[in-house]
Amino acid sequence: MTARPLPLGVLASGRGSNLQAILDEIAAGRLAAAVRVVVSDVADAFALERARRAGVPAVVVDPKRPGGKAAYERELADVLAAHGVDLVVLAGYMRICGPTLLAAFPGRILNIHPSLLPAFPGLHVQRAALENGARFSGCTVHFVDAGVDTGPIVAQAVVPVLDADTEETLADRILRQEHRVYPHAIRLFAEGRLRLAGRRVLVDAPAPGAGDAALVHPPLPA
Ligand code: GRF
Repeated sequence: MTARPLPLGVLASGRGSNLQAILDEIAAGRLAAAVRVVVSDVADAFALERARRAGVPAVVVDPKRPGGKAAYERELADVLAAHGVDLVVLAGYMRICGPTLLAAFPGRILNIHPSLLPAFPGLHVQRAALENGARFSGCTVHFVDAGVDTGPIVAQAVVPVLDADTEETLADRILRQEHRVYPHAIRLFAEGRLRLAGRRVLVDAPAPGAGDAALVHPPLPA
């Protein structure tokens, strides 16, 4: 008997390449999930087009309305609930989650951020990594809490920062890892393997050998 695919709701404000990576992973049979709805706060977000092409309902929820953020998030939560969503996936969603959305999906909202949190939360993170001379950057999937990029960390991927990097080349290198690590983190959630312990996320049966993994940059001599 196969487990019921985890019903996902994806929130996106822009191009939706992470959404696409998740859709592709599901289509390839590597992620037991189903994107039930894609919701955007931006009417012409390309993520909505990606959803339509995949046969997924694409919904715009306009944040400008009487009642402010609470009313906006109430409608968001209603749309997600109406589509039977169990896990909310923020994929380039450019708003801070407020108490209404957090309360509707407690412990069931994931985000991806293009830095190695807790370093460089917020915006312009590649610029910050370059300006601070970081040797490594990467991406982080984390549970969402009331802060800005502060929730418990589920998974990270690390990339080197190269001397010739610009914000764009570094962002591209990180994005390629985002597309791998986000479906991976969702898979761990779908398989029930994530457990919160304070601010830590413990993973049941992690792959053997992870404790020996290390990246050094510049590389050590062979
Ligand atoms: C990604 O870099 C993600 O880490 C950040 O916003 C960007 C979204 O890209 N939160 P896309 O819309 O998924 O292509």
